[in-house]
Amino acid sequence: MGSVLVTGSNRGIGLELVRQLAASPQAPQHIFATCREPDGPSGKALRELAAQHPSIKLVQLVSLPSIQGAVQAVESHLKGQGLNLLINNAGVSSHATLQSVDSQEMLAAFTTNVIGALVSLCQEFLPLLEKAAKGLGKEGLSCSRAAIINVSTKVGSIGLCLGVLEAPMYPYRASKAAQNMMTRCMAAELKDKGILCTAIHPGWVKTDMGTEKAPLTVEHSVRGILTVLASLSQDTTDAFLDWKGNSVPW
Ligand SMILES: NC(=O)c1ccc[n+]([C@@H]2O[C@H](COP(=O)([O-])OP(=O)(O)OC[C@H]3O[C@@H](n4cnc5c(N)ncnc54)[C@H](OP(=O)(O)O)[C@@H]3O)[C@@H](O)[C@H]2O)c1
Repeated sequence: MGSVLVTGSNRGIGLELVRQLAASPQAPQHIFATCREPDGPSGKALRELAAQHPSIKLVQLVSLPSIQGAVQAVESHLKGQGLNLLINNAGVSSHATLQSVDSQEMLAAFTTNVIGALVSLCQEFLPLLEKAAKGLGKEGLSCSRAAIINVSTKVGSIGLCLGVLEAPMYPYRASKAAQNMMTRCMAAELKDKGILCTAIHPGWVKTDMGTEKAPLTVEHSVRGILTVLASLSQDTTDAFLDWKGNSVPW
């Protein structure tokens, strides 16, 4: 794979994705690691990682004007090549219940998990993904050709509708269910353009979001995710898979 962009890469699953990608024997030539404050205190761990790997390029990504700036920054590094893989990882959780949920918390979840992550980001990076898909000698669908991976969650599955009483999380679940619909629509629309779209559930992972109670380490989850990504093909575009490659009902 020539190039990958990971959002929310200053901590948690995003930081570990960048770490493992950069350390891999088949490391991508360019790893674009985006976060809100690459130069601020929250970007420290990512800056330290980038200092060890020239393949990692830090890119600031906050809102729409900065997405356009990010596209230009990425384009200048790619020098006429396309972007192979876009991993929409940045996300925000919410524990609001049916009684406590309000429109502001609902909007905040949708703004980050659906509008920011998917509507704006995918629209702006689509030309670079299309360029990668048209690359010489590339056939079929794969993450090394052109792909959008949306980091989703099992609790956003309408089919499963897991543990509502223990973890109502209305804004989080609803926004991830909407994200899942976007994944399916994009998979159908972009298949013929050579772009794969898949949703991945990383498991319940020890991060700021997953908390210390989670059973999975971030290293373990990300190792699984990267193995799954390497196996994706036209058979698994429009799929919702967990970090072990098992199918999750939409
Ligand atoms: N951890 C789990 O158990 C679990 C389970 C299922 C799914 N997931 C999914 O996995 C993904 C990563 O989660 P994580 O556990 O690594 O979470 P995390 O440790 O809380 O990290 C979240 C990342 O998203 C970024 N982010 C949050 N709100 C943002 C916004 N409005 N604009 C831009 N970036 C924003 C954060 O940046 P800042 O540092 O700037 O806030 C941070 O980089 C999420 O999509 C989440 O839904 C996680």
